[in-house]
Amino acid sequence: MNKTKLLVLCCLLALAGASFAQTTPEEQAMLEEEARLAAEEAALDAAAERDPSAPDPAPAHPELRPVLEAFGGREGLDRLMDTFMAGLLADERMGPFFANADQERVKRQLAEQFCVILGGDCTYSGRDMKSSHAGLGIDRADFNRLVEVLQVAMDAHDVPFSAQNKLLAKLAPMHREVVTE
Ligand code: HEM
Repeated sequence: MNKTKLLVLCCLLALAGASFAQTTPEEQAMLEEEARLAAEEAALDAAAERDPSAPDPAPAHPELRPVLEAFGGREGLDRLMDTFMAGLLADERMGPFFANADQERVKRQLAEQFCVILGGDCTYSGRDMKSSHAGLGIDRADFNRLVEVLQVAMDAHDVPFSAQNKLLAKLAPMHREVVTE
């Protein structure tokens, strides 16, 4: 998403929040609709920013639908991301990577991405893995640590070991785009 779009989205959301007290329900609904449309447009922009030469960041595996159920569906993934992000921020090695990121956005993109990979009826609206991680200076040990933090989060949510491994098997090849050091 480009910075101007992000700014416009933030302004719309701020406006929507600031005008709560004075607006009628109709005006409120209109503001919320405008904010929703701006968010949709921003998601389309992010998709447009994808590097066409980068591999598909969210290849769908319809046969993994039962694995998605084991995660508790899309809602389960959203809950998992709260724990995962908290774990990343608390981790000495991972914390600095995520401290200044738009954490809500990353959580949402990850939940969308995992949902699509696991054959869910979702859409991934984020960037490709190469563009998302370019310039972050991620090495192999960072990658492995992120996977460990994800495993701890999945354990905390009682995701069966076999389901964890099926997801991790699809994420593992992404080290080619994510690891740059
Ligand atoms: C298989 C492994 C990984 C997957 C599937 C993954 C997935 C994602 C996704 C979907 C996003 C959001 C993309 C977007 O904003 O449109 C993202 C952003 C991000 N990822 Fe990863 N990631 C992985 C590994 C890592 C690792 C190892 C690190 C650091 C150690 C990392 C750090 C970040 C950071 C800091 C952002 C936010 C970047 C920004 O705000 O510009 N990721 N990742």
